[in-house]
Amino acid sequence: MRIDILTLFPDTVSAVLHESIIGRAAAKGLVEINCVQIRDYTDNKQNQVDDYPYGGGFGCVMMAQPLKACVDAVKAASGDCRRRVIYLSPQGQTYTQETARRLKRDYDQLILVCGHYEGVDERFIEACVDEELSLGDFVLTGGEIAAMAVADSVCRLVPGVLADEQCYVGESHWDGLLEYPQYTRPEVWEGRAVPEVLLAGDHERVERWRREQQFLRTRDKRPDLYEKFAVSAEADKKILRKLESGGEHVRLTLPVDYRPAVEMDLPAILAIIAEAREDLQRQHIDQWQGSYPGEGNFRVDLERGECFVVYHGEEIAGVFTLTTREEASYDAITDGKWTPNLPYCTLLIMAVARRYRGSGLAQQLMKCVERQAREYSLRCIRTDTHKKNKASQALLRECGFRYRGNVLVRVREGHDPARQGYEKILKK
Ligand SMILES: C[S@@+](CC[C@H](N)C(=O)[O-])C[C@H]1O[C@@H](n2cnc3c(N)ncnc32)[C@H](O)[C@@H]1O
Repeated sequence: MRIDILTLFPDTVSAVLHESIIGRAAAKGLVEINCVQIRDYTDNKQNQVDDYPYGGGFGCVMMAQPLKACVDAVKAASGDCRRRVIYLSPQGQTYTQETARRLKRDYDQLILVCGHYEGVDERFIEACVDEELSLGDFVLTGGEIAAMAVADSVCRLVPGVLADEQCYVGESHWDGLLEYPQYTRPEVWEGRAVPEVLLAGDHERVERWRREQQFLRTRDKRPDLYEKFAVSAEADKKILRKLESGGEHVRLTLPVDYRPAVEMDLPAILAIIAEAREDLQRQHIDQWQGSYPGEGNFRVDLERGECFVVYHGEEIAGVFTLTTREEASYDAITDGKWTPNLPYCTLLIMAVARRYRGSGLAQQLMKCVERQAREYSLRCIRTDTHKKNKASQALLRECGFRYRGNVLVRVREGHDPARQGYEKILKK
């Protein structure tokens, strides 16, 4: 990988990039980093690189001529290769680890152009730049810090620069999650001990613990990334189920069945809902964060005979409300459609007691839902869940529900009404 940084401060940039890991990689010839003085390519006697903006205004703008001459000279010196001219700019796409991977994969040479003052003449961008990249939504005085960030993060992906590929695989942002916490000696520092699992020498346990930590950290520190993360590996699904269950596991050793709920079941039902509400809040999921579903709702469902409890032995372990009433808010589905002309029942509520989560009870509950739909003589079940509620989405998919599109449900003002609509059609 060759990187040419076009700047008014080549010595400063070069000094930074020729230190430490990247500096050693350059010394070994694994990467080549050249810092080029734009001022050397001016065609005026004063070596002036900037001038006043047409139309007036503050500051100066870098002229197109020296910038283009500098780019051309660098291109001529490096010959034919897969090359990308990048202008570092607060107006560019935000730079991410994914961009670093793409640049490393697709190009042999990056020409990074650093602006200064009020920026560069727009015609230079039009004529010479392939891509604009921003370090973030803030404004720097020059592109140098951004160029160094791009150069550093791309170079460390070049084989041989780091001791092992494993050094960056699994790091924060590699697969969408943040990295697990790291510890080094001493074992106890200022009364804080290293987690016991890291000292026991059980490699498999360490791996499992680290992956769990990745999920927990991402969920707590960067809910935006957590929301986007697509869980596909079986091991990850297991971890997710365990986390959503609060870590405690009950083994299903007794028969699981369901029956219509009665007044006496209300305290158990409300306790299950309170746990679910609390867990959703902890995960920053704006679902059930108002008064719904509350005692009043369950009393109505109970009277209609549409609320059911799922029990394991004697214990109430789950609850669901399956109504034969069609849900008016589902009519306005967007980004997809429901199966047309099929009468359906609506799964309004389903929740499993925290200590039963991850035990397989939720899957059993969904079977009870299907049995009840058949009791209603309805072959189609529709439901919805919040777009951040990954556990619920995973369960629905696992139980044969299909995502059909987006709906807006009725919620109290100030809460998020956006939900994903899911549907299952039962076999005859
Ligand atoms: C003061 S800035 C110019 C900002 C420009 N007037 C604007 O508002 O878009 C000077 C130079 O710093 C660099 N720069 C500033 N913020 C940046 C960011 N967030 N990412 C990358 N480069 C940035 C660019 O190269 C830019 O030409």
